[in-house]
Amino acid sequence: MERKSKSEILDKKRAQAQEGGGEKRIQKQHSKGKLTARERIHFLLDKGSFEEIGKLVTHRSVNFGLDKQEFYGDGVVTGYGTIKGRTVFVFAQDFTILGGSLAEAHAEKIVKIMDLAFENGAPIIGLNDSGGARIQEGVVSLAAYAEIFYRNTQASGVIPQISAIMGPCAGGAVYSPALTDFVLMTEQTSYMFITGPNVVKTVTHETISAEELGGAKSHSTKSGVSHLSYAHEIDLLNGIKTLLSYMPQNCEDNVPMQAYEFQESEKRPNLCSIIPKNANQPYDIKEVILGTIDDGSFYEIQKAFAENIVIGFARLAGRSIGIIANQPMILAGVLDIKASNKAARFVRFCDAFNIPLLVFEDVPGFLPGTDQEWNAIISSGAKLLYAFSEATVPRITVIIRKAYGGAYDVMNSKHIGADMNYAWPTAEIAVMGAKGAAEIIFKGEIKNAEDPEAKWKEKEDEYSELLINPYNATSRGYIDEIIDPQDTREKLIRAFNMLKNKAVKLPKKKHGNIPL
Ligand code: HXC
Repeated sequence: MERKSKSEILDKKRAQAQEGGGEKRIQKQHSKGKLTARERIHFLLDKGSFEEIGKLVTHRSVNFGLDKQEFYGDGVVTGYGTIKGRTVFVFAQDFTILGGSLAEAHAEKIVKIMDLAFENGAPIIGLNDSGGARIQEGVVSLAAYAEIFYRNTQASGVIPQISAIMGPCAGGAVYSPALTDFVLMTEQTSYMFITGPNVVKTVTHETISAEELGGAKSHSTKSGVSHLSYAHEIDLLNGIKTLLSYMPQNCEDNVPMQAYEFQESEKRPNLCSIIPKNANQPYDIKEVILGTIDDGSFYEIQKAFAENIVIGFARLAGRSIGIIANQPMILAGVLDIKASNKAARFVRFCDAFNIPLLVFEDVPGFLPGTDQEWNAIISSGAKLLYAFSEATVPRITVIIRKAYGGAYDVMNSKHIGADMNYAWPTAEIAVMGAKGAAEIIFKGEIKNAEDPEAKWKEKEDEYSELLINPYNATSRGYIDEIIDPQDTREKLIRAFNMLKNKAVKLPKKKHGNIPL
């Protein structure tokens, strides 16, 4: 019998690993509109940059006939490569092998590259597509998951961690993505939930589909668990590349700067015509954002969740920044539980990774009511307050219009550590609006007046004239300068440049106790 050469044996094993769970299962994967793990890595990384680690790893289980089902790689492809020339570590679960289920060897491969990413200060990207804990391996699978969760936590704030959900992600498996910085989902082909539709039906008697319970739409609009969702896998993979372009490699790295050629003038006259004459009329804050930043550089996060606040990455003269802006088009831009939580987490991500913060403020206050109070708006508002207060990155606020009550303090005010605070001439910085204020302070006078309506209006105007403007705050130095809207971009470019070497140390402590 002809003996195979050593390199032939290796080639055969490699080819076998490359095939994953075999042609039939690959076809099934494609028929669902999904790419395979290897195809996903191919489209994610720079061409030819992928170095695979652990290609020939196999599981060691003999339970329930598993010893007869040996696939190289054990259902996950792991390794490193580059995206736009920068090193990243990646794991992609291979649904064609035992449903991408996670067990001992599979998890060891993920843990190995997590450790490498952590020790070498580079982002880690997980492409999740898995039936969850490998049922045949029992508690070993649970232990293996926990090894991953532990590392997610240790790496939090050290290296960016990105999770793409490109298939099932159920049970405790959802906690690794939830511990990472950004969760991206594909529409119609992915879902995340603690328990699936069958258990839901048994426990709560609700009838609901997997898509409705935990699909991209639900998590992008209702829960906020998903930060970005995409119609196609390729769009998602491109989304990861865009997202990473705003981030440093790790918490000690500088924020990315793209080449930028200064114009003769950075004035933006269009900014002067956005604010309506009537202060109660809405406008789209995104016009202010887009009118200020480098063209085409806004990458919005959690676009369809808590739309009363807008968050996202952008560039200003090439420098990455994080933007937080109240949206007067939705609920008048009020701060509620979801908006506060959304903004607080984003502030903390940016601060952890040295990304300067820019706030555009137009906020009438916090949303009142039993729903908000009983669901702890106090804690959520405090969370945002805490996040801004402990952020040491350069921080700038531009008050566009309303800055009322506690929301004025919370939205990156001078008093909680913002570096530069600007206001447009349209700014209204006060405890509350003139109408409400007049009703409270002049209650008796209005009641006893011959024409109460006219009196109320007179007192409202009086209050407005005296206190609803940017001048009181400016005279006390709470606002550094009232600026012409068209100069906003230029002022911000200069100020962020001035702040580029900012160094602030927080008091020595183990860690704070953010009101979670
Ligand atoms: C072992 C699994 C598996 C699993 C799927 N497979 N899930 N093998 N352990 N958890 C295998 C199947 O046997 C099948 O093998 C192949 O993967 C594809 O599965 P299908 O069922 O044919 O695919 P599909 O119809 O697309 O359905 C996908 C699915 C379903 C919805 C994910 O497979 C399913 O419900 N799986 C079980 C999910 C589950 O209960 N997981 C445990 C959750 S608890 P062949 O050989 O036919 O290709 C959990 C706890 C984690 O994860 C806790 C962490 C702390």
